[in-house]
Amino acid sequence: MIRRMISFFALAIALAGLTPVSVSAADAGTVLVTGANRGIGLEFARQYAAKGYKVIATARKPAEATELNALAKADPDITVEALDVSDLAAIDALAAKYKGTAVDILINNAGITGFPEKQRFGTIDYASFDDVMNTNVRGPLKMTEAFTEHLVASKQKKVLVMTSSEGSIAGATSNRQPFYRSSKAAVNMVMKNISYPLKDKGIAVALINPGPVDTDMMAGARGRMPLRTTELAVRELSTIMETLTLDKTATFFNFDGTTMPW
Ligand SMILES: NC(=O)c1ccc[n+]([C@@H]2O[C@H](COP(=O)([O-])OP(=O)(O)OC[C@H]3O[C@@H](n4cnc5c(N)ncnc54)[C@H](OP(=O)(O)O)[C@@H]3O)[C@@H](O)[C@H]2O)c1
Repeated sequence: MIRRMISFFALAIALAGLTPVSVSAADAGTVLVTGANRGIGLEFARQYAAKGYKVIATARKPAEATELNALAKADPDITVEALDVSDLAAIDALAAKYKGTAVDILINNAGITGFPEKQRFGTIDYASFDDVMNTNVRGPLKMTEAFTEHLVASKQKKVLVMTSSEGSIAGATSNRQPFYRSSKAAVNMVMKNISYPLKDKGIAVALINPGPVDTDMMAGARGRMPLRTTELAVRELSTIMETLTLDKTATFFNFDGTTMPW
């Protein structure tokens, strides 16, 4: 009877607009997002926090992460951590700091395209190629390896890798952004490989192409092609994560939930 009365009052308050209707933080779980200071990563932090998740939001330079810091100031469930995903020791240190904390969803979002002038065949800058591979391939691999036990300890046990249609070999019909394209093809392959031992531990992986989204990364495309908002893109990607099950692990998803060709 008392429980029914509490539910009634909670519903009445929610309907009156006094409190957002969302699951409690304890029920929702914990999300870790890399590259959360801008673009799609920032929006992931915003939306998961709004849904009641605890968010570990990483940024290379937290002191400069103005928007993320403002979000964290307004919501104690967001914790900002410094992390460069190309720094293996830093990843280990973060995993050690959160030892014993369950991470329900690991979002490997941080990524770079590399400078176009460094990837021209004939004058390729190999150090720049290493930067792209270290960030886009080694980063998600090491993050997933370092946080496996945190994922195992969670309820949801899910990993999202922000890949790209540019990583589809079937779709490569010209020489464009070879560093970026090969890094996304490689991250697909490395995650497909480790999805097998992860599946044995109950962890599911989604490789998702967010499609063209209006962020700094796509600044050059503004006005030349339709770009979706980060708000819409993250809603779409989160829907895929909600319906992700172990039997779909290592699927290369498009943002609309369909399957992309490798
Ligand atoms: N936008 C699109 O249309 C699109 C399409 C396909 C795939 N994607 C993928 O989606 C992801 C997010 O892209 P976005 O559009 O949001 O890009 P963005 O606006 O350029 O943001 C990239 C984020 O990654 C961070 N980052 C870069 N290198 C890092 C490193 N070594 N360690 C930690 N963080 C690092 C950046 O931090 P700093 O601020 O410190 O640089 C920034 O927070 C990327 O993996 C990208 O490849 C995007």
